[in-house]
Amino acid sequence: MVNKRLQVGVVFGTRPEAIKLAPVIAELKQHSTEFKPYLISTAQHRSMLDQVLQVFRISPDVDLDLMQPNQTLNRLTCRVLQAMDSVLAANPLDCLVVQGDTTTAMAAALAAFHRKIPVAHVEAGLRSRDMTNPFPEESNRRLAGVVTSLHFAPTSIARDNLLSEGVARSAIVTTGNTVVDAVKMLLDMKMADQALPAGVPEDSSRLLLITSHRRESWGTELENICDAIRDLVVAFPDVRAVYPVHLNPNVRGTVLARLGNLDRIHLIEPVDYFGFLSLLRRCYLVLTDSGGVQEEAPTFGKPVLVLRKVTERPEASLMGLARLVGTSREAIVKEASDILGSSVVYRTMSEGQNPYGDARASARIVQSLSRWLNGAIPVLAPTEQFESGIREQIATVS
Ligand code: UD1
Ligand code: UDP
Repeated sequence: MVNKRLQVGVVFGTRPEAIKLAPVIAELKQHSTEFKPYLISTAQHRSMLDQVLQVFRISPDVDLDLMQPNQTLNRLTCRVLQAMDSVLAANPLDCLVVQGDTTTAMAAALAAFHRKIPVAHVEAGLRSRDMTNPFPEESNRRLAGVVTSLHFAPTSIARDNLLSEGVARSAIVTTGNTVVDAVKMLLDMKMADQALPAGVPEDSSRLLLITSHRRESWGTELENICDAIRDLVVAFPDVRAVYPVHLNPNVRGTVLARLGNLDRIHLIEPVDYFGFLSLLRRCYLVLTDSGGVQEEAPTFGKPVLVLRKVTERPEASLMGLARLVGTSREAIVKEASDILGSSVVYRTMSEGQNPYGDARASARIVQSLSRWLNGAIPVLAPTEQFESGIREQIATVS
């Protein structure tokens, strides 16, 4: 008798979800005798999502095309819930895989729960313990977690967060973050070594790679970040800033007004993943409020200044590879100057293993899905799970 293949729905809507699910999708496809993946794009993002799908050659089975200009959280949530309900009604899925902390992840998880489809959450258990930072992502991942049956925690810190909230140990697998797998996929394709974007001279300047788009920073705080970048470029004549500006109009308005047409500040359109990894490889220092970029930079040995008040990804700072600097102009300039001004400080922040993963997260996830959907408990033995050795490494650093 031929076994029925497991129908695993995988839903994504934004750039980071697609990047982080691409290796999971590739792994599911490699096990095609066991799994029949069903790929659902909400298209919460349009062009920034399509850039990723093109790079990873992913064709969704259904594209809900939900993005609207300057969408509100509530309206988008309603559209995702409604559209996902129709998709789930029409497709008998064995489970739905959601990723991270976006509106897509939260609303799709809820839609699956309402239809009694078990949810598996990739990148579960990250916590800032501040519902306003990042907003609304801290609530999104908690809400998704409440309706999740199997939690894929990227690190032991994320796993411990879930345990402290009462999630059963048997419902958690520590996998590493799939973004490290995604980076490896691209490095293996040997494409992450592109020329600098048009307009950025190929000279000996040290590059600051900037990204900032978080909702809680819109307005004054994003203005402070922009002013700090301007100060740094003035203070260090051998520095250029490269900033791929997010397409959210609330971000672009401020950044283009504050930093447009300035010497050695290069505002560029979002670049595809090959282009962004090339920038990570070429840059000297990263200033970002992005979750994914914080997790990628250690693979390239690049120090990170985290432009946030709190981070749910403390591993790099605990290891001395990143610093949480907040959004004050003075603090950003001071910390960046410290790193730009001292090769000793720079070296200590650029040497160390990536604490977020070992590029085997998606293999662990797919192995776990197989065991879970076939009724195995525990899903994975502790010895098969990701162990970064972070506790030992923190002890060495401190
Ligand atoms: C969303 C996520 C955030 C994630 C970010 C990744 C939520 C609540 N927020 O924020 O967690 O860090 O994506 O980038 O889910 N836009 C375009 N084209 C695009 C993408 C966006 O024009 O390809 C513009 C549109 O006007 C859109 C707006 O940006 O309405 C906001 O998009 P949305 O997904 O709601 O929020 P982000 O700020 O992108
Ligand atoms: N990224 C990209 N092009 C860019 C900027 C970022 O491909 O111009 C990638 C980056 O490598 C990371 C992801 O987008 O993997 C992060 O997305 P974003 O910062 O939008 O979201 P977050 O991770 O903060 O949710």
